[in-house]
Amino acid sequence: MSRKINIAIDGFSSCGKSTVAKAISMKYKMRYIDTGAMYRAITLYCIQNNIIVNGVVNIDMLESNLSNINVEFVYDLKEEMSHTILNQINVEDEIRGIEVSENVSIIAKIQMVREKLVFLQQKIGEQKNVVMDGRDIGTKVFPDAEVKFFITADAEVRAGRRLRELKLKNEEVSFTQVLDNIEMRDSNDTSRKINPLKMAEGAILIDNSQISLEEQNILIFSQIDKILKK
Ligand code: DC
Repeated sequence: MSRKINIAIDGFSSCGKSTVAKAISMKYKMRYIDTGAMYRAITLYCIQNNIIVNGVVNIDMLESNLSNINVEFVYDLKEEMSHTILNQINVEDEIRGIEVSENVSIIAKIQMVREKLVFLQQKIGEQKNVVMDGRDIGTKVFPDAEVKFFITADAEVRAGRRLRELKLKNEEVSFTQVLDNIEMRDSNDTSRKINPLKMAEGAILIDNSQISLEEQNILIFSQIDKILKK
């Protein structure tokens, strides 16, 4: 790729943002950053250090610990995936667990946490050639990104896809439970006071409710190619 660009991907939970970001990263040899993993790693630290207990955050403890929380990514060439490292420990599996998932939106609402992570994300993007996914990438982290996508799908479609993933992991859960959880997360993400999820100015809207992954990739790659040719 000749011209160095950043790509911002935002959208609702479980609409396949990371699948899009990974496909872009592979095709255009760009660095992929999953910002949700960064919020998850801070949440894990808070759980491990009793900074969040029963959904209540000890703000003073968080403030005095925040500078000790170091989140990085290392790329595993063999697995062709990036691992999240919290204070030198690989936490990639742990941050996807239920306890972190249940607490992360509480931590992601806190201003000092967002300021720390947005600063880090902007530093990573300074060198360009980064594709980053999250909720506030096109609006806050990279408002000047050369390409911005906003990915969405109907809540029922997302719940159906998520249910199939959970069933593969032998999790006992109903469609209604999954749908309720998705709707709750949508509402948390869009109603948050600081950097809520919304479509960034200039973002390209992709609704993948009725299209296949291949069709989605064709759409996305054609938009990127258009910008690269400019
Ligand atoms: O994408 P995910 O489900 O792994 O994100 C985990 C949580 O972090 C979710 O509650 C939304 C929040 N998040 C955020 O507020 N801002 C981001 N840039 C990325 C994630």
